[in-house]
Amino acid sequence: MDVLTPVLSEHWGTENSWKLSRYETTGGYRALRRALDMQPADVISLVKEANLRGRGGAGFPTGMKWSFVPQDNPNPKYLVVNADESEPGTCKDMPLMMASPHTLVEGVIISAFAINAHTAFIYCRGEVLHIIRRLQQAVREAYAAGYLGKNILGTGYDLDIIVHAGAGAYICGEETALLDSLEGRRGQPRLRPPFPAVAGLYASPTVVNNVESIASVPSIIANGAAWFQAMGTEKSKGFTLYSLSGHVKHPGQFEAPLGITLRELIELGGGVREGHELKFFTPGGSSTPILTAESLDIPLDYEGMAGAGSMLGTKALQVFDETTSVVRTTLRWVEFYKHESCGKCTPCREGTWWLVQLLMRFEAGTAEEGDIEKMLDACDNIGGRSFCALADGAVAATTSAVKHFRHEFEQGYHTPAWELFPYEKSAVF
Ligand code: NAI
Repeated sequence: MDVLTPVLSEHWGTENSWKLSRYETTGGYRALRRALDMQPADVISLVKEANLRGRGGAGFPTGMKWSFVPQDNPNPKYLVVNADESEPGTCKDMPLMMASPHTLVEGVIISAFAINAHTAFIYCRGEVLHIIRRLQQAVREAYAAGYLGKNILGTGYDLDIIVHAGAGAYICGEETALLDSLEGRRGQPRLRPPFPAVAGLYASPTVVNNVESIASVPSIIANGAAWFQAMGTEKSKGFTLYSLSGHVKHPGQFEAPLGITLRELIELGGGVREGHELKFFTPGGSSTPILTAESLDIPLDYEGMAGAGSMLGTKALQVFDETTSVVRTTLRWVEFYKHESCGKCTPCREGTWWLVQLLMRFEAGTAEEGDIEKMLDACDNIGGRSFCALADGAVAATTSAVKHFRHEFEQGYHTPAWELFPYEKSAVF
């Protein structure tokens, strides 16, 4: 593995790492000065050349998204940072904002300058009050230092950042639901196209980017596209944050180039807990199909995970050992999707409810012959037929669990999961 990382997490352990004075001593806001000396179009070209791909899950090229903003549109342009991190297992953006909020603020200013926006929003989950306060403090510090507001650093460029607290709905991480919520409406997804880059907030061109994507921008400006390209794999460039959780000795955030394998990551995390072995894992949170130990050596990048029949997603690696019931885990995930379904479309609203009913039977050992087929049939009628990707997450969890562990579902015809996999054995703490 390349040794250029860590970048994003380099100073997380430093005292007062969140303060402006500390950030500046480690080179903070130098990239901003450099970017403001460039033409906005050149900033976009540099990020395109680096091939930074969106870190929110989909991996869409960030520079390309910025270049979709129609500059001849007379409406204001907006930058919106999606800080509504809520995917089960995903916990990389929160520590980043807690430990290093100025990396995000600097990234926001550079990115907004690149797309010619004068207002940027950071949309953060409402429950994480400590992070919202930290962001607000960082924004206040940046205003006081002349990095925000009118005539930033004497360049004539103006930008305001508004930290917005959501109300804690998973659906508001879906970019168009987020925009509805930001406009003061109930957060429900909109039909795409038009994509937000063309018609987003207040029907104006809007770039919605994930926290980690935006926080990666200052280092690209400071070090150049070739530096970024030197890390990662052929099509998945750069460094990224992997969240390792579950049955490992030392769970946490691990920054590494894209393409590291789970075997290497688990080693960094001290290994699977003593006396146990890996049974299955998610590569990128509960929305990505589960994989088994057979995929331990496949590169954790967009192409590798697609080849293995899953997705890299948010890079949230939830590790489960042999004490875990696949049926129970799937039920817990699908209950989450059922609870978070916004109710706008029938396949998701009704389908996730039905999946929960069926999964509860498998967990209780009261399922009947044919229930597996019934469940897969329900998945067929949900996947790709709902309004947004939320219900696809429930389907991915269910179908991949049946694909790899059908025999455990068959045990659900006669034996409760809690007898086969007692809770106390699978407990992490
Ligand atoms: P998507 O692939 O539909 O879009 C990705 C981004 O590219 C969006 O910003 C979209 O506007 C833009 N885009 C795509 N095609 C475009 C075009 N032709 N013109 C302009 N812009 C275009 O993916 P989506 O539905 O936005 O996100 C799904 C991902 O979100 C999943 O991969 C999942 O891993 C991740 N996710 C992350 C969560 C988190 O907590 N971070 C929660 C749930 C899902």
